[in-house]
Amino acid sequence: METELIFTFFILSSFSLGANSCPPSDLAALLDVKAALSEPYLGIFNSWNGTDCCNKWYGVSCDTTTGRVAGLNLRGESEDLIFEKAGRSGYMSGSISPEICKLDRLTILVIADWKGISGEIPPCIASISSLHTLDLIGNRISGVIPSNIGNLQKLAVLNVADNTISGNIPASIVNLKSLMHLDLRNNQITGQIPADFGKLGKLSRALLSCNKLTGPIPSSVANMYRLADLDLAMNQLSGSIPVQIGNLPVLSTLTLDSNRLSGTIPATLLGDTGLNILNVSRNALEGEIPDVFSSKSYFTGIDLSFNNLKGPVPKSLASASYIGHLDLSHNHLCGQIPSGSPFNRLESSSFVSNDCLCGAPLKTC
Ligand SMILES: *[C@@H]1O[C@H](CO)[C@@H](O)[C@H](O)[C@H]1NC(C)=O
Ligand SMILES: *[C@@H]1O[C@H](CO)[C@@H](O)[C@H](O)[C@H]1NC(C)=O
Repeated sequence: METELIFTFFILSSFSLGANSCPPSDLAALLDVKAALSEPYLGIFNSWNGTDCCNKWYGVSCDTTTGRVAGLNLRGESEDLIFEKAGRSGYMSGSISPEICKLDRLTILVIADWKGISGEIPPCIASISSLHTLDLIGNRISGVIPSNIGNLQKLAVLNVADNTISGNIPASIVNLKSLMHLDLRNNQITGQIPADFGKLGKLSRALLSCNKLTGPIPSSVANMYRLADLDLAMNQLSGSIPVQIGNLPVLSTLTLDSNRLSGTIPATLLGDTGLNILNVSRNALEGEIPDVFSSKSYFTGIDLSFNNLKGPVPKSLASASYIGHLDLSHNHLCGQIPSGSPFNRLESSSFVSNDCLCGAPLKTC
């Protein structure tokens, strides 16, 4: 009886040991990752000691059945106790070692908001086929987005915002068929948005602002039925706004400000569209503001300022159910400002620097 118990115990403990301990190749890869980084203030890597990387290593998690490292989640800004104790946010220098690609069962790779990590995104990252989340926001990473990033068929989140990444958006990006969230904001990315960008059928948020993108907004975006937030602001995009954007069923935020867009504002953007925020400020848009607002129009913000718009302030704006913030300043509008509920709260700053607007809140006609 006793020997049987001891035997059972032995089997159980060796089983759990097998399930929890870190495979030597994963252990070696993590130690190489650690060696290429320096984190002087919090001591998060102090816990990366011994050989069981699946047990209490800060930010490391393992798949309970395979025992392989499945998550590396290192955030420099978090509510974790370790930050509270140190009384500061995180800082790391160094770079991301290409040895990280040997963690070939990773689903989550987050090395975010460390401010000082430089170097490039290891190109081999495109070989970690299990990757679901790649989040490197808020570092000083340079170089390009790996050209074969499109191999990552399970990738749902790609966030490399707030770095110094240059080069083009790789053509293969449109093959990321699981991609739901793309954030490339605040980098030095040049070239055009791929013409077939609309192939990203699952994409819900496409955030590309504050780069150096040129060329047109691809009309293929009209195929992105799940797109809720499109942010292309502060680039050098030209051409006109594709009319079909207004027909996207769940688009709620469209920010195209500070580009070189020309042509007219499509009526589809202002009518009954479900759009809540529209910012096309600081472009070269011309023509009249479409008079297509209705009781279904509900905008928390419409900013059409600093364009070449002419004609009147549309009368139908008065029938909108809500207009939170409206900026029509610095255009060539003319005529009487309509009265009605959305206008009663607006200040003169919404209308200044036009050709000949009059009526409240400006001077009487
Ligand atoms: C690893 O470090 C922790 C905390 O720094 C310490 O408590 C633990 O004993 C160390 N483990 C090994 C195996 O060295
Ligand atoms: C629209 O964009 C302009 C220019 O980038 C910015 O100054 C303005 O605050 C934005 N408007 C709204 C309502 O967010």
